[in-house]
Amino acid sequence: MISIKSEREIKLMREAGILNYKTHEEVKKHLKAGITTKELDKIAYNFISSHNAKPSFLNYEGYPASICVSINDEVVHGIPGKRIIQNGDVVSIDIGVEKHGYHSDAARTYIVGEAPKEVQDLVKNTEQALMVGISKVREGAKIGDIGAAIEKYAHDHGLSVVEELVGHGVGTDIHEDPDVPNYGKEGTGVTLKAGMVIAIEPMLNLGDKDIYMLDDDWTICTDDEMPSAHFEHTVVVTKDGCKILTGEICDGEE
Ligand code: MF3
Ligand code: CO
Repeated sequence: MISIKSEREIKLMREAGILNYKTHEEVKKHLKAGITTKELDKIAYNFISSHNAKPSFLNYEGYPASICVSINDEVVHGIPGKRIIQNGDVVSIDIGVEKHGYHSDAARTYIVGEAPKEVQDLVKNTEQALMVGISKVREGAKIGDIGAAIEKYAHDHGLSVVEELVGHGVGTDIHEDPDVPNYGKEGTGVTLKAGMVIAIEPMLNLGDKDIYMLDDDWTICTDDEMPSAHFEHTVVVTKDGCKILTGEICDGEE
């Protein structure tokens, strides 16, 4: 079942989205070579908790941390721990925030220090692929339009698309219907309606698309150990486009 959010619910979801954005900004401030992933997790936990909200991922299906920190060949769902961030690391940070019973979900990838041009392009183009996907969202468009656009953008830029993990609806649950794949065919799948809220989250690889899961039962890595990037926004469908609920704070918003 795909829920349509009321005006009131969308306001609350934007609040959760704003806090998600602010948490990303807070984590970014501390993201430097030498910090551990556990320290970043703690910063996010404290920030979210002090704003009358909860980290959505903590204890979700047994997930043991507040955020996901996935480094280099780790695609998503890296569990924060003792690992120390190094110069040249490609670091994906995924954050879920629940406020007033509504969730928001957003991810960004950073390069810490210097990295080769092809790795910089991987990160830039994955963010761009997300924006291209978002540009397809409006009432009457199909879910397949989003995936087709992301897939084409990725392939045109020499990147592969992880297929096993997909975007999703967001609302009172962090993962709701529908699935939002990062591949597919234009004109196919669910028709978008104003008030639907979806998370779009391309995971693109510099090498091959194949992945595996570590023994921790969470961390997803590339088979060929080449780096991967991940960007995600939660958006609400409108009549003529969408609003990015996890996007930067505009004039007139607190
Ligand atoms: N943004 C991630 C996703 O939608 C959230 C992972 S939730 C976790 O897949 F708790 F399972 F890590
Ligand atoms: Co998500």
